[in-house]
Amino acid sequence: MTTEMNPLSLKSLSELPAAAKQILSFAGDKKIFCFYGELGAGKTTLIKEICKQLGVKDAGSSPTFSLVNEYKTAAPTLKEGKGNSSLGREQTAPFRAGGDTIYHFDLYRLKSESEIYDIGYEDYLFSGNYCFIEWPEKIERLLPEDYVRVQIEVKNDERIISLS
Ligand SMILES: Nc1ncnc2c1ncn2[C@@H]1O[C@H](COP(=O)(O)OP(=O)(O)OP(=O)(O)O)[C@@H](O)[C@H]1O
Ligand SMILES: [Mg+2]
Repeated sequence: MTTEMNPLSLKSLSELPAAAKQILSFAGDKKIFCFYGELGAGKTTLIKEICKQLGVKDAGSSPTFSLVNEYKTAAPTLKEGKGNSSLGREQTAPFRAGGDTIYHFDLYRLKSESEIYDIGYEDYLFSGNYCFIEWPEKIERLLPEDYVRVQIEVKNDERIISLS
C-alpha cells in the first residue's frame, strides 16, 4: 500500500512519534525516503524521530559538515521488549532487531553532482539500508525510480505531511 494517503496534519512536536510510525508503515518494504520542504520545514526533526522509531538511540547533531551521517540501531532493551501486551509486541516488530545501519543525507550544501559521486552515494543508496535524504532536489536526476516521497508544508502553525 504505497500509492497515496491522506496528508498528516501535525499541530505540535508531540504528534511527531505517531506521524513517524505512520510514515514507516506507509513505506512498507521501501528503504529510500526523500524529504521535500523549505528551510526549517522540519525535515531533520522528522528524520530523527523516524530513526528513533527504528531503534537509533542517539542520532547526534545534524549533519552540518558532512553530506551523509551514519546511525546504528540498538537492539531493543529488555524493558522495551518484555511484557505481554499487544503494545509491547507492536513496538518491537518488525524493524527492531538492532545493529542496522541508517544513512541520513543532507544535500543542502551539495555544489555539484560530482560531489555526490565522490562520496560513492550509490553504495549507500543501493546498500539495502534505510536512506533518508534531505534536499533530494539536488540529485533529482540520480534518484532511484522507487522511493517514498515525504513532503512537509508549514501552514500557520501546522505541519502538513504528504506521502506518496
Ligand atoms: N512537527 C513540528 N512541529 C513543531 N515544530 C517543529 C516540527 N518539526 C520541526 N519543528 C521545528 O522547526 C525547526 C526546524 O526544524 P528542522 O531543522 O527539522 O527543519 P529542516 O527542514 O531540516 O530545515 P533545513 O532545511 O534547514 O535542514 C526546529 O526548531 C524544530 O523544532
Ligand atoms: Mg535539516
